[in-house]
Amino acid sequence: PPFYAVIGQPIAHSRSPQIHQAFAAQFGMRLRYEACAAPLDGFAATLQTLRAQGLRGCNVTLPFKGEALGLAEQMSDAARLAGAANTLGWDEQGRLWADNTDGAGLLRDLRRHLDLQGRRVLMLGAGGAVAGCLAPLMQAGVASIHLSNRSAEKVAPLIQRHAALPCPLHSLAWGSGEGAGFDLVINGTSAGLSGAGLTLPTGLLAPGAWAVDLVYGPAAQPFLQAAQAQGARTLDGLGMLVEQAALAFERWHGLQPQTPPVLDALRRSLE
Ligand code: ATR
Repeated sequence: PPFYAVIGQPIAHSRSPQIHQAFAAQFGMRLRYEACAAPLDGFAATLQTLRAQGLRGCNVTLPFKGEALGLAEQMSDAARLAGAANTLGWDEQGRLWADNTDGAGLLRDLRRHLDLQGRRVLMLGAGGAVAGCLAPLMQAGVASIHLSNRSAEKVAPLIQRHAALPCPLHSLAWGSGEGAGFDLVINGTSAGLSGAGLTLPTGLLAPGAWAVDLVYGPAAQPFLQAAQAQGARTLDGLGMLVEQAALAFERWHGLQPQTPPVLDALRRSLE
């Protein structure tokens, strides 16, 4: 069967093999999709080794998304603006291409739950996760996006890089926004992953607003619970995970899998 993989460090808990096998099964397709750990200083070498074994494409996860982009000979606009790639493949001539389906995946999941048109959006964080989602969100018809990060100096470069896109982009001081009543707040910090909570200023979210965490499982809970306490509706990153995988699957195989049944099964398997 055709050989694909996800490369990261750590990688043992990756759900990508399960997701891609579920997609392949929808088409009666045989697929080899493996989770491969690369040493922190050995992403390029690992990619080369797997390629020699017949690898046709791969997903890339932390901490190699930036390095993956640097190796590519061609890249999508999404990958360039994100400064990171989560999907790689080789074309007919053997040239390595890079794409980033994270932001588009987030949008597909968001659109299942809410209308983005005219929404006032706040994104927390300024690392890789936020960079990967910013351009697609700016092109989704939202009214404005505010960026807020603990280390303020990371916000301006992100704003500059996206200046050509048609959506007002502002910075907001970390910890401020009391009474701002945003319609959608997206947590792209890794605070929850390290067990740290986020204190949300009173009235940061409008009642009935949406709070979205880009991660899933226990790491998403501190932010989502704080947002719920302000009357927000919540969404974790599991749907985005499945949607970004579906977009990668489509790039490689030219087939559009059904995502809802795969998401349902994944959620059940995590309970
Ligand atoms: P990722 O690729 O997951 O985005 P990253 O690029 O290391 O990872 O970025 C992590 C983000 O989470 C950063 O915005 C970081 O804020 P700093 O730029 O100030 O480091 C943010 N972050 C991590 N832990 C945090 C915490 N306890 N409180 C607030 N922000 C935090």
